[in-house]
Amino acid sequence: MLINNDTIVKDDDKRIRERSVDVSLPLSAEDRALLEDMLQYVKDSTVPELAEEKNLRPAVGISAIQVGVPKKMTAIVLKDGDGEIECQYALVNPKIVSNSLEKAYLANGEGCLSVDEDHDGYIYRSARVKVRGYDMIRDKNVEIRAEGYLAIVLQHELDHFKGILFYDHINNENPYYEDKEAIRIE
Ligand code: CO
Repeated sequence: MLINNDTIVKDDDKRIRERSVDVSLPLSAEDRALLEDMLQYVKDSTVPELAEEKNLRPAVGISAIQVGVPKKMTAIVLKDGDGEIECQYALVNPKIVSNSLEKAYLANGEGCLSVDEDHDGYIYRSARVKVRGYDMIRDKNVEIRAEGYLAIVLQHELDHFKGILFYDHINNENPYYEDKEAIRIE
């Protein structure tokens, strides 16, 4: 599937609010091809020349509903300052099995391929999550114990399965309400 900034489902399209369904395993050829394309999108999107050439917006994650397919699949790629991949997942039916009460938030707020406008404010999420699911890259069921940035990204992506966008979590009265107990991630 061609995935670029013009084909991504944006938040003015009601499909972005759809709930995603479980995917049957083993993966069908079609589901595998889609997840591979999603993973490639995320990898390429942070390489400036490729992003320019293919009309990609930089991202660390993408979920299938963002290309109009309401299935529980998400691809996540985190890179270090030199552009080397630090961690990557192509998850099918991932589920949060436990989460910390302690919260964390990104100091710069969150962004999303489906959201073109800026939405200022802090988004408080669990500081740590344990996620289980099938990972296409490793071809096995995995348990991810995440904290810090990865924990935030996982929760953002899994929210897409429920049709939830990051700005739904922003406190409208006081977008920069500061929870002193929460971990601030710079
Ligand atoms: Co998003």
